[in-house]
Amino acid sequence: MTMSSSADTVADHIDALRARIDEALPALVADREPAVLYDPVQYVLEGGGKRIRPIVLLLVAETYGTAPATTLPAALAAEVFHNFTLVHDDIMDEADERRGRPTVHKRWDVNTAILAGDIMMGLSYELLGEVEADGLYDVYHPMVEQLCAGQALDASFEDEDDVSVEAYLEMIDGKTAALLSAAFELGATIGGAPPSDREHVRTAGMLVGRAFQIQDDLLDLTADGDDWGKAVGGDLVVGKKTYLTLRALERAEGAEYDWFARLADGGLPPEDVSEARDRMARLGIFDEARDVVQRYSDEARTHLAVLPDGEAAGALHWLIDEMEARSH
Ligand code: IPE
Ligand code: IPE
Ligand code: MG
Ligand code: MG
Ligand code: MG
Repeated sequence: MTMSSSADTVADHIDALRARIDEALPALVADREPAVLYDPVQYVLEGGGKRIRPIVLLLVAETYGTAPATTLPAALAAEVFHNFTLVHDDIMDEADERRGRPTVHKRWDVNTAILAGDIMMGLSYELLGEVEADGLYDVYHPMVEQLCAGQALDASFEDEDDVSVEAYLEMIDGKTAALLSAAFELGATIGGAPPSDREHVRTAGMLVGRAFQIQDDLLDLTADGDDWGKAVGGDLVVGKKTYLTLRALERAEGAEYDWFARLADGGLPPEDVSEARDRMARLGIFDEARDVVQRYSDEARTHLAVLPDGEAAGALHWLIDEMEARSH
């Protein structure tokens, strides 16, 4: 098999999984009432997205010989949970746009978005219960706690001016890596992987998650607006502590430090976003962020060497390469 035909096969396999997930998600709530509760849920679930977490979960289980048909409810549980966190995150981050469309609290209102999130959280627990495998909630529930703790730290960092990169990493391990890692580990658990493999797979998920959030921070400022689907520069305007802003504050000196200090003091006016981008590029912050993303991704690949060889493992490695090269 040539390189390109094998790459095509892998891409087709992942596209087929994504199509299956895209179809199943809105169908979960299609017949549910009342509409005031479920219409926004339907809106979110049919709104696209990369579907990374459910695809990872399906592929890891498949690596250990369990077919997607068996694993699908757990994959949907991970994606529904992820979508719940996005709906509440957009309220917290005062974000008007997600996946190129108005966020739920903008299209409807905050109360509607809170309830849409609440019911998605319940639905996700319900879905996980449909898969017959031991130990799934032992992975799932601690993840829920870690994610909420990470989101709480993220919000509290907005009002702190002395956040270290170490504290930031602990925060993103909660808000982002915990769920990615759980997706990896749930796949391994359902597939019946031996405990030592599970540990490597879980760790790989944490590293992929770290890389993913640092890249999200990078893309938040450097992505193409149409592609990105969220407001470019939004993190700077609301005064988020991201990998970029923390490193800019650490590296800038003198008048440049004073210019960036406003990041830690309520955020920048939108008209200063473009200048912030130029200054960060000159300070080498973007190159540094790219290097860190690559380092964590490489470390993750090392842990994934334990996966049994085969098409599913190849697809998972391909997906990690794609995540590293993503533009949205
Ligand atoms: C966005 O996640 C939230 C983060 C953890 C950075 P994704 O980038 O996976 O969002 P969708 O699901 O593809 O829209
Ligand atoms: C992602 O944080 C973490 C969660 C949504 C739980 P962000 O706030 O960076 O995510 P985006 O950029 O809004 O997608
Ligand atoms: Mg957030
Ligand atoms: Mg956000
Ligand atoms: Mg972000």
